[in-house]
Amino acid sequence: MNVLSIETSCDETSISLVQDSEIRNRILSLVTRSQIKEHEAYGGVVPELAARAHLTNIEPIFKQSLQEAKFDLKDIDHIAVTAGPGLIGGVLVGVMLAKTLSMSLDKPMYAINHLEGHALTARLSHDVPYPYLLLLTSGGHCMFVEVLGFRQYRLLGQTLDDAAGECFDKIAKLLNFDFPGGPALEKKAVHGDAYRFAFPKPLEHSLKPNFSFSGLKTAVKQTIEKNPPDDQTACDIAASFQYTIGEIFKERTAKALGCSNHKVERLVMAGGVAANKYLRKELSDFCAQKSIEAVFPPMNLCTDNAAMIGWAAIEAIQNGIKPSGHDFAPKPRWPLEQLSF
Ligand SMILES: Nc1ncnc2c1ncn2[C@@H]1O[C@H](COP(=O)(O)OP(=O)(O)OP(=O)(O)O)[C@@H](O)[C@H]1O
Ligand SMILES: [Mg+2]
Repeated sequence: MNVLSIETSCDETSISLVQDSEIRNRILSLVTRSQIKEHEAYGGVVPELAARAHLTNIEPIFKQSLQEAKFDLKDIDHIAVTAGPGLIGGVLVGVMLAKTLSMSLDKPMYAINHLEGHALTARLSHDVPYPYLLLLTSGGHCMFVEVLGFRQYRLLGQTLDDAAGECFDKIAKLLNFDFPGGPALEKKAVHGDAYRFAFPKPLEHSLKPNFSFSGLKTAVKQTIEKNPPDDQTACDIAASFQYTIGEIFKERTAKALGCSNHKVERLVMAGGVAANKYLRKELSDFCAQKSIEAVFPPMNLCTDNAAMIGWAAIEAIQNGIKPSGHDFAPKPRWPLEQLSF
């Protein structure tokens, strides 16, 4: 089963060829182009520019992806595409290519939820068995989900305001770090004192494993405004902020474990923020103390990529899900738990 998959929901144009084979042969090609240059001057993703860049980039990426897999159009069995949630202009570009290929090649198409792609990535990369506890932390989402089986998603808690990735990006911007902010902040934090500034951990006393990051963001902003930082202070603020996120993640994971209906044996961290090495280490040590296995997908599969979309389609096919009709409408909002049977 060869799936050609397309991801265009934010600022990565990505196309992959994925197979339902043993782990090391699953990803036949994965070509991802980030739009760093297009958005750098604005310090954030501009939806209109993102949609235009997807339109420009998608054809060469499609060709490159086929070439790298040594594939011809006739070798494609199924088409998979991110159909939401995301920036709608970008999603439309991917969906139009998917529909065109599906109609012209007469191959079935699967409209995939982007969050399901993140949620199942550790099964693509590590064959993690169901059930597991998922911490999905990305640019637009931060949530705990009990993944009981394919399309059996139980939401345990989520952010009430911003996502952790968004918080990384905004603070990096305030500190004049490079774009994109998350990875830049992580690099600066290596040289900083994580204990110099004490930042708040919103919802610390709540019983549920929910998150709130807006108060933390404001506290960091006020610290920066009060003492305009020199290079070392900027690194100290970055390290203290990242340390606080780590403490929040561990403390909320403990709460999520308490809310889970099954005995959790595995914690999977997914989404762009899961590419952060400091947070991976903190959560991995925390899980080791509790005799829980911590699983992190490889870095290039944490941030947006088409391979995870192709894999979600493979699981859908294996579970007898019917292909999507060509009248499928892309969805800017599409909560993961709506997919549950
Ligand atoms: N090393 C890192 N440390 C912290 N954050 C990071 C790191 N690498 C990436 N991120 C953050 O991850 C986010 C991007 O992740 P991803 O591509 O999964 O998000 P998205 O697709 O924009 O959002 P969503 O998946 O919620 O729709 C950005 O906010 C980015 O700053
Ligand atoms: Mg994403």
